Amino acid sequence: MCNWPNVTLFRLNMALLLLFGSLLLLSRAAQGSNTSIPLVIWHGMGDNCCNPMSMGGIKKMVEAELPGIYVLSLMIGKNIAEDTESGFFRDVNDQVAFACDIIAKDPKLKAGYNAMGFSQGAQFLRAVAQRCPNPPMKTLISVGGQHQGVYGLPRCPGESSHICDWIRKALNSGAYTDAVQKHLVQAQYWHDPLNDDLYKQHSLFLADINQERVVNETYKKNLMTLEKFVMVKFLKDTVVDPVISEWFGFFKTGQAKETETLQQSALYTEDRLGLAQMDKAGKLVFLGTDGDHLQFTQEWFNAKLIPFLR
Ligand SMILES: *[C@@H]1O[C@H](CO)[C@@H](O)[C@H](O)[C@H]1NC(C)=O
Ligand SMILES: *[C@@H]1O[C@H](CO)[C@@H](O)[C@H](O)[C@H]1NC(C)=O
Repeated sequence: MCNWPNVTLFRLNMALLLLFGSLLLLSRAAQGSNTSIPLVIWHGMGDNCCNPMSMGGIKKMVEAELPGIYVLSLMIGKNIAEDTESGFFRDVNDQVAFACDIIAKDPKLKAGYNAMGFSQGAQFLRAVAQRCPNPPMKTLISVGGQHQGVYGLPRCPGESSHICDWIRKALNSGAYTDAVQKHLVQAQYWHDPLNDDLYKQHSLFLADINQERVVNETYKKNLMTLEKFVMVKFLKDTVVDPVISEWFGFFKTGQAKETETLQQSALYTEDRLGLAQMDKAGKLVFLGTDGDHLQFTQEWFNAKLIPFLR
């Protein structure tokens, strides 16, 4: 039965090969040679864009898994020293605007990008998503971010403990005074559950992006365009207080012991930010990992986070 001449089979094979070859070339040409969506990363407190032990290492890890990907690690300021300083002493709203500007001007990001924020860099990138829809952020990965802020600063990362002692004093003496709000980054996501009214009225950054004063429909609409919002919580975190803030939960108002989940909060039940709708659409991903603040292995990173960047 199978007596097709060999030469016909050979021709057929060649034709198929050529066809697939040209399809491949065509799709490559359409996408440029990079098939991965670009990634923007924002470092945490006491860190900077380019430290080979931190963000530089993350960039390398991502590039190793997704060859050809464009990774932009945000530098807030003119140089690395200024970038590190911005993590402590610069108006966060101004930093977010600065980041939006870098992102909007980067031609490699114009078709959209994914974002990955570390610690406070995560809530700052969420503000970018809410305020700056062009180019569009597709997926936001928050690695130990504090979406409901912090009430306490039990430990500072790295070698910045003397700065932290100073910050603690400033926060205790008046986190919600305008001068402290304007200049101290940690005050701008300081969330005092015992002084809820003060927080709502005077927090220049966090209360604004969390819709505490008004519901800004633009924020809601923009956040809801995310394809996925992934939140990583470090189960043994000794830096963030309360740790549930990494999953968008917080202390119940009026005390600082009992916490509530995002789903129990007014932000969610009133759906002031679109998070309830996103949750129902399967866009919220809650990941937990068994380590202290920002402590994870490359295997965990590759297995749990890289899939969201493919
Ligand atoms: C692809 O990625 C490389 C490495 O990040 C970059 O230099 C190049 O400009 C990118 N090409 C396109 C078309 O985006
Ligand atoms: C809502 O957010 C947009 C985008 O940041 C801003 O331009 C606008 O002024 C905000 N509106 C209110 C009422 O805060």
